[in-house]
Amino acid sequence: MGGTKIRALLREAARNAPSNTAIVECGCWLGAGTAQLALGIREREDTLNVQLHTYDRWQADKSEVEKAAKRGCHLSIGEDTLPRVRQTLSEFRVPIHFHKAELMEAVWADGPISVFVDDACKTPLLFCQAIETFAPHWVPGQTIIVLMDFNFWKKTGSRKHECQKRFVECFGCAFERINSRVAVFRYVKQTDFMPWLNATRRAPSERFERAMYYIAKVARRSKAGLNNWIGQSAAPSSRPK
Ligand SMILES: C[S@@+](CC[C@H](N)C(=O)[O-])C[C@H]1O[C@@H](n2cnc3c(N)ncnc32)[C@H](O)[C@@H]1O
Repeated sequence: MGGTKIRALLREAARNAPSNTAIVECGCWLGAGTAQLALGIREREDTLNVQLHTYDRWQADKSEVEKAAKRGCHLSIGEDTLPRVRQTLSEFRVPIHFHKAELMEAVWADGPISVFVDDACKTPLLFCQAIETFAPHWVPGQTIIVLMDFNFWKKTGSRKHECQKRFVECFGCAFERINSRVAVFRYVKQTDFMPWLNATRRAPSERFERAMYYIAKVARRSKAGLNNWIGQSAAPSSRPK
């Protein structure tokens, strides 16, 4: 489910967010959901008292190139999409904090979070990491949680895609569902999620995902190093002959 499908809901959450709080979106892609959040902020009287933060790696892979093409947008594989997203969203004239990061390594130090939108964390390791990073800053009675991949398991039939559902079910008294159609909850009770997160991470089924994550991380780092080295080797020598 993309940001355009729940546009009214995102807009309303941003419009009603308490002052001096932050809105966090995990998974911006081309900014459809971010745009709705920005519109909600624009409809407030105090537009500068709520900060909009969005996280993504903004690096187009093959499936994203294909998905964008269906909507008439040309991307290339490996393209850094942040410049075009930044440009598009600048038209909303709302300050947006863009965090170009691997979500497994994201950090948060910007105070209470009033709206948390997750449209990236489909699998347990990533989801657990996002919860560990952001949930300590949720405010009981206030924070609105939007889990856009809550029903992803219905599409794939895969148990690993049930992690968002299992999380909410396990902490039934921490969440009040406030929309019957979409997985939107109010965080109502201060809760320590760490035991559940640790147990979920330790599950044997997560070993493979963890290994894949570290391989991908090393590959990303070595690729950058390799490209650097190729660039330097290919550059004309500045030494006099
Ligand atoms: C479904 S798209 C988001 C769609 C967007 N919210 C919308 O409304 O159109 C998921 C996004 O999450 C990002 N993403 C997925 N896993 C990530 C990770 N581990 N670190 C950073 N970004 C990630 C992808 O790059 C992609 O842009």
